[in-house]
Amino acid sequence: MVNGKMPPLSELSVPQHVAIIMDGNGRWAKQRGLPRQAGHRAGAENLRRVINAAVEFGIPILTIYAFSTENWDRPKLEVRALMKIFARVLNQEVYELHEQGVCIHHIGELEGVDPKLSAGVRNAIELTKDNKRLILNVAFNYGGRREILHAVRRMLEDNLPPEQLDEQTFDSYLFTNGLPDPDLVIRTSGELRISNFLIWQAAYAEFYPTPTYWPDFDRDELYKALVDYSSRNRRFGRTDAQIASQATLP
Ligand code: FPP
Repeated sequence: MVNGKMPPLSELSVPQHVAIIMDGNGRWAKQRGLPRQAGHRAGAENLRRVINAAVEFGIPILTIYAFSTENWDRPKLEVRALMKIFARVLNQEVYELHEQGVCIHHIGELEGVDPKLSAGVRNAIELTKDNKRLILNVAFNYGGRREILHAVRRMLEDNLPPEQLDEQTFDSYLFTNGLPDPDLVIRTSGELRISNFLIWQAAYAEFYPTPTYWPDFDRDELYKALVDYSSRNRRFGRTDAQIASQATLP
């Protein structure tokens, strides 16, 4: 920020892949004397705003942490309410997303999920598969450790020779196969944890924590995150001098 003014979008370095831990729905609701479910509904409405903003800012890939493998341990009523919200979004909003050019991806496991819901996810993926404006990658029934175990199991099933195992091969066994690693991980609601989210892929991501609760994390908040990201010096383990000398190479 210069003199309290935000730089224009043309001066920002827009990340290729933004991943968001959408946290704080419950506290947002509590602050207003509402049930937690109301917070999740507000969170789902906000997702629409953030998708629109991502399209506007030219972010090509947006990954959202919708439901973790650990979230099943929440009270039954809350889990049911969340599944209802996901089903409604899948049934109603998917067509609007399709019109908008959004391509839906899923990471996580669909086994054990309500068959109607998993069918909805598969339909959404099929319907939107050729869209190019934004990849919306939904982490649903997702856990980073489970993803790594799943990858290792498949490598063993494929009898992959140990000497053939490198980072690129490992990447190709993850749910995110084909997607670049996230450049920026945003977590709302002031928590400073990664919570089992993209633990392999986020190795060199920039982390942006914000105290704002997810339902209030709007277009301007995303813009602020991009401004902050643009000011970061990404070194990937190298020194400033090495980065500078590379920048001057022909
Ligand atoms: C965290 O808030 C949020 C979740 C566990 C669920 C995220 C779901 C949504 C935002 C709904 C919309 C998503 C889709 C894909 C339609 P929290 O309940 O942990 O909040 P708290 O930490 O304040 O209790």
